Amino acid sequence: MKKLTTRDFRAFKKSKSNKTLSMLTCYDYQSAQILNETQLDMVLVGDSVGNVILGFETTVEVTINDMITFSSAVKRGAQNKFVIADMPFGSYSTFEIGVENAIKLFQASKVEALKLEGAFENNLKIIKALTENGIPVVGHIGLTPQSVHEQGGYYIHGKDEHAGKKIIEQAKSLEKAGVFMVVLECVDAPLAKTITNELSIPTIGIGSGKDTDGQVLVINDLLKLGPNTPPKFCKPVADLYQTKKELISKYLDEL
Ligand code: KIV
Repeated sequence: MKKLTTRDFRAFKKSKSNKTLSMLTCYDYQSAQILNETQLDMVLVGDSVGNVILGFETTVEVTINDMITFSSAVKRGAQNKFVIADMPFGSYSTFEIGVENAIKLFQASKVEALKLEGAFENNLKIIKALTENGIPVVGHIGLTPQSVHEQGGYYIHGKDEHAGKKIIEQAKSLEKAGVFMVVLECVDAPLAKTITNELSIPTIGIGSGKDTDGQVLVINDLLKLGPNTPPKFCKPVADLYQTKKELISKYLDEL
């Protein structure tokens, strides 16, 4: 499969294709090698690395150096994929810090794009500067886990009219600032559909219903790699946690 580019994603939206764009998270070299050999459209090195790989309770503890390490490993394994890396908590708290860290992560990891959470004035300024300097950016609104403490937990966003209008405005301001794609996390499904219809760039949903241009999942949820129950919106295709446990126990029994 040909490696996709930002032009393909923009053209996809214009084509009004009824295909669903696919994105999965990935954090390590060997899993990236597997994804590299599939039909997957995009790989996201999410800051969810903090939860599922590093064992942190939230993504707040993930650093820019963590993201450089994991994104570089994934890019080495998924050379034929469009790879996106998350800018972690605190790494874009001011314009200067944001631009400096974005350039550092983009250059060191060799990924194709970066993702930033939120659509505040500062983020929009950073996104504009990055895109004008050749760094493609993906937006991320709705539930933004880096702001979990400020948002007051994990829940569906945009259920009432006022909150819905605000999320539509955020989506439009991100598009205007230059993002080529926007992730809608835990956005009320009808609202996610409206945003998808109103934007001229693709929307990628997670827990936001089926009417977005694409879907993203955390690979550890999809394959059930951990003992935790995956979120309601993810139907695991396997239980690799159990399978691995059984295989290791069998090996130990036969030792
Ligand atoms: O970090 C992550 O895994 C993400 C996805 C949930 C979109 O940002």
